[in-house]
Amino acid sequence: MTGFLDKAYGTKDPAATRRLYDDWAASYEDEIAENGYATPGRCAAALARFASDKSAPILDFGCGTGLSGLALKLAGFSVIDGMDLSPEMLGEARKKDIYRALSVVADTGAPVIPKGQYSAIAAMGVIGSGAAPVHMLDNLMHALPRDGKCVFSLNDNALRDPAYEARVMEWTDCGAARLLFREHGDHLPGIGMKSNVYVLEKA
Ligand SMILES: C[S@@+](CC[C@H](N)C(=O)[O-])C[C@H]1O[C@@H](n2cnc3c(N)ncnc32)[C@H](O)[C@@H]1O
Repeated sequence: MTGFLDKAYGTKDPAATRRLYDDWAASYEDEIAENGYATPGRCAAALARFASDKSAPILDFGCGTGLSGLALKLAGFSVIDGMDLSPEMLGEARKKDIYRALSVVADTGAPVIPKGQYSAIAAMGVIGSGAAPVHMLDNLMHALPRDGKCVFSLNDNALRDPAYEARVMEWTDCGAARLLFREHGDHLPGIGMKSNVYVLEKA
């Protein structure tokens, strides 16, 4: 493989992750389309099953070039905001007529999502090694109001590290969230990688 995909699971800190995605932005869509990127469509379809109002503002966290926003739009969501660590990825997203607002976020570990503003938050292909750390799930869930939904994916690389699913179970085991959906399916079939898609509802 000559692209960036083989490097994407190895970055060690937010600055390196931002650099990787800045460098990848122009060729990201071609490379992952070539490998049959399936997770955004699966996430958007799962969220659409449980969303009570598809016209309510939704946050596409780690929106990248906008493939996840496009999947949300195709699933019927109409007011979509995007946030990402990488200005270059956001530059690509900006070229698409999908988002109401787009913003660059820092990864200092501090919460960056305004609390209670979104009844649904998506993080598709965002949490995992080489991308956002596992504690990002807490930030997403804390930003939701009661009954708010979070759809996110963990690919097979992340699932090999028990810490990622354990974080999901921390939310469900104590009753702070309900697991509405979990399904293992295609992520990047071109490299034989699958992912779990989850929908959590905040209690
Ligand atoms: C694999 S891409 C997925 C992009 C998009 N969601 C999609 O499905 O095509 C991962 C994205 O997460 C962003 N990202 C990684 N760590 C992040 C963080 N801590 N905060 C916000 N975005 C982050 C990267 O910049 C990149 O655009």
